[in-house]
Formats: sequence, structure tokens, C-alpha cells
Amino acid sequence: MMRQSITVRLIVMFAIAALVTFALIGAALYHVLDRELTRHEQDELRINLQNLQYSIERTGTMDRWARVQAKMDTLTPADGSVRFWVLSDEPRYEYGRGLAEIEHMNREPDGRGSILMPRKKYPIHTLSTSIPAFEDRPAVRLIVGVDSASYARTLDIFLTALAVLSLSAVLGVMLIGYWIARVGLQPLVQLSKEAQALRPKALSQRLNVTKLPPELSALAAAFNGALGRQQDAYRQLESFNADVAHELRTPLTNLIGGTQVALSRQRSAAQFEETLQSNLEELERVRSIINDMLFLARADQGEAATGLVRTPIAQEVRKTTEFFEFVLDDMDAMVSIEGDIAAEAMIETALFRRAVSNLLQNAIEHSSAGARLLVTIRQQLTSIWVTVSNPGEPIAPGHLPRLFDRFYRIDAARQPQGEHHGHGLGLAIVKAVASMHGGSVTASCAEGITTIGFSVPVAALRAA
Ligand SMILES: Nc1ncnc2c1ncn2[C@@H]1O[C@H](COP(=O)(O)OP(=O)(O)OP(=O)(O)O)[C@@H](O)[C@H]1O
Ligand SMILES: [Mg+2]
Repeated sequence: MMRQSITVRLIVMFAIAALVTFALIGAALYHVLDRELTRHEQDELRINLQNLQYSIERTGTMDRWARVQAKMDTLTPADGSVRFWVLSDEPRYEYGRGLAEIEHMNREPDGRGSILMPRKKYPIHTLSTSIPAFEDRPAVRLIVGVDSASYARTLDIFLTALAVLSLSAVLGVMLIGYWIARVGLQPLVQLSKEAQALRPKALSQRLNVTKLPPELSALAAAFNGALGRQQDAYRQLESFNADVAHELRTPLTNLIGGTQVALSRQRSAAQFEETLQSNLEELERVRSIINDMLFLARADQGEAATGLVRTPIAQEVRKTTEFFEFVLDDMDAMVSIEGDIAAEAMIETALFRRAVSNLLQNAIEHSSAGARLLVTIRQQLTSIWVTVSNPGEPIAPGHLPRLFDRFYRIDAARQPQGEHHGHGLGLAIVKAVASMHGGSVTASCAEGITTIGFSVPVAALRAA
């Protein structure tokens, strides 16, 4: 669609509305005037005809005929706008100018007619009647004519006046429309001025909604909402950057420290090997953080799960638990799977396993020896929930919704420096996997059991 200013649009709409209105009113007025003029013309014809018919009917001698002729002479105005003709087989009883032009009318039926005289633009409208013979006078035919030129001219003048008035009125309406648009759009100008005044660094700035008319305050509120979300995202990004730097600093400090110590004295090959070994561990830690962050970045950019396969969930969970067999054996712990064992979901298996494995890892880390872990599969209308529960210390409710935030660890402060703990991305990845499948996450804690999980869509829905 073409971009067009609202002002121009309003003016055009006003002009069209005015034009249509004036055209309709004009057409109606023209019609009324035309009808009235025609009626007036017909009245004039009829009165003249009746008047003369009466006289001619009683005329039986040449004497009286001369008087009738004189009467017709006086009735005929100088401009010839009203004219009389009498046609007869007897030339003495004929009357009127240009008789040759209307000779043919002798044979036409009585009533209305119209003659176009030579070199005339408008016709003469006529009314005629036959008058039977009386005494000496033969049968004659009386014709009264009215020149339609003056009526036509009146209509023409009316039409011209109407057109000129309508066009000036439309012009006037357009000017008023321009003014209305200017005044009406003033709040919009105000709004854009305010929006322009927003400075890039002042993220907390908002548009002033209170001064705006209701139609625009919704827009401004939506805009403010967008600014708010922008601000949140910006803050999150800032703190995320800080977290990343902080998270990478520890392993790098360890690496540098270890390397400096190794280089400070003469070392044996075995000692260097040991240093390299420990460096490798730190480097792997760095790589795993970077890999996790890359994964989260891709999920952030809206990457969705691809290659969705209809998969029995319980079977996929069991395969994942098998990787933890040894750890579980060492702890004398066990995992059981319960719920809708037969449920099937549309998933990208690698992503799904990664999420389940992160949950199991957390559950194992936070439960003591001999614990019994539980994976529950619960099918709902459109989604399947997979949750992992473990007995453990209760988590304060304030923490629960934040567990899925990047780098969020409840006991971060209590972790001794240098010790190899998680870096707080595990649950963020679970959340990313869920959202890549169009699902969501849950975390709860009740009666000493911590339950954390996510959802994926039911198979039937996607397959349909
Ligand atoms: N089952 C659980 N019981 C108690 N607390 C948990 C449990 N799972 C997660 N948490 C808390 O949530 C925090 C975030 O978990 P997350 O898996 O995201 O990070 P992590 O385990 O610390 O590190 P990573 O998984 O990246 O190695 C953990 O540090 C822990 O405090
Ligand atoms: Mg974890």
C-alpha cells in the first residue's frame, strides 16, 4: 500500500463526502426545477389554446375571423416566445408566420408536439387541437407554441451556478478538513516530539501518557511497554555479560596461576605433565561454559527444535538414566520412572536427553546417599510434563522462579572458590530446550521433595 499522510487522506475523504453530498442535492434540485418549468410551460400553452379555441369555435364569418386574427396578433409577444398558427384547407382561414414549416403538423394527432425551426437551437413546444367547421368557416387546426429557449437557458444558468457553488463549497470543505486534520493530529505531533526526545542511554525514560487523548494513550502505553521490555532485556544482557566475565575469570585465573607456578622453577617432565593435565581440566571447563552459552544464544535467537520425531518419552528417559548408572550405584541411590509411561511426544531426542540429563544431574548433586529419585511423566491436553524429584533441603520460594535464570545458583556464595561446582547454566538450558519445543518449565518444593521439570508437545497434535 502506498504511504500517504493522514492529513491528505482526511482532506480527500472530506472532499469526496462534500462532492457526493452536493452532487446529490444538486441533482435533486435540478430535477425539481426542470419539472416546475415544464409544468409552467404546459400551463401557458393550455391557457392560450383554450382561450383561442373558444373564440375560433364561435367564428363563422370572415368578419369575426379578422377580429380573431387581430387578437392573435396582440397575444403574440414581440420576442416570439409565444406563437399561434391556424392551419386550414382554405388559405383565407390560415394564420401564422412560417406556415410552411409546420404544414406537416396538420396531419398529426391533437395534443403535445415539438417543432425545431431552422437555425434554432431549442425547439418550440406546441399544443394543438382541431376545431370543426362553423357556418362559413371550414374546419381548422389551432396550434399554440412556446419557445423552450428561455427555459433551457434558465436550466443552464442554474446548472452552472450549482457547479460553481459546489466546487467552491468542496474547496471550502477541503480547507476546513485541512484545519481539522491539523488540530486533530496535534497530539500525534506532540507524541512524536516526545518520542524523539528519548535519549538512547536513558533507558528508564517513558512517554507521558496522561496528557494524551484516549485513542493515543493506548499506543503510547504499548510503546512504553516495549521500552520497558527493552530496558529489562538490556539490564539482563548487562548482568549476563558481567556474569560471563566473572564465570570465565575463575578458570582463567587458575590456568594462569598454575602455569606461573609451573614456570617459576625447574620442573621434571612428570610435574609439567601434571600441570598440563590440570590446565586441560580448566580449559575443558571454559569450553563447556562457552558451548552452553552458544547453545543458549542460538535458542535466544528463536532457533526451534528441528527433526521432531514421535518418541515414547519413558523409553528416552530410561536411556538417559543409564548414563548415570555408576554415579547412582556409588551413592546407593536409584531412579524410578512413573506416570503416563505410554505417552509419546514430538521431540528432538538429543535436546530432550540433554534437558533430562541436566535435571538428573541436579537431583543427584542435591540428594544424599541412598536417595530415591523419581522421574514423573504426566500427559496433559496438549503437552507432556517430565519432572525429576529428589529428597533434599527445602528451597525458599523466592528462589524457585529464578532457578532457570542464567548463572543463578542458590548457594553461589557458599561455594568455596576453585571447587568444581556447576556454573548455573544447567536449568537455563532445560528452559531453552522446553521453549525450543514450544513448552515451558516448572519448579516446586514441598515436604522435603524438590521437583523440577519441563514440558514438550504431545505427539498427536504435531503429527496431525
Ligand atoms: N534438585 C535440586 N535441588 C535443590 N536445588 C537445586 C536442584 N536443582 C537445581 N538447584 C539449584 O538451582 C541452581 C541452578 O541449577 P543449574 O542446573 O542451572 O546450575 P548448576 O547445577 O549450579 O550448574 P550446571 O548445571 O550448569 O553445572 C543450582 O545451583 C541449585 O542451587
Ligand atoms: Mg545443574
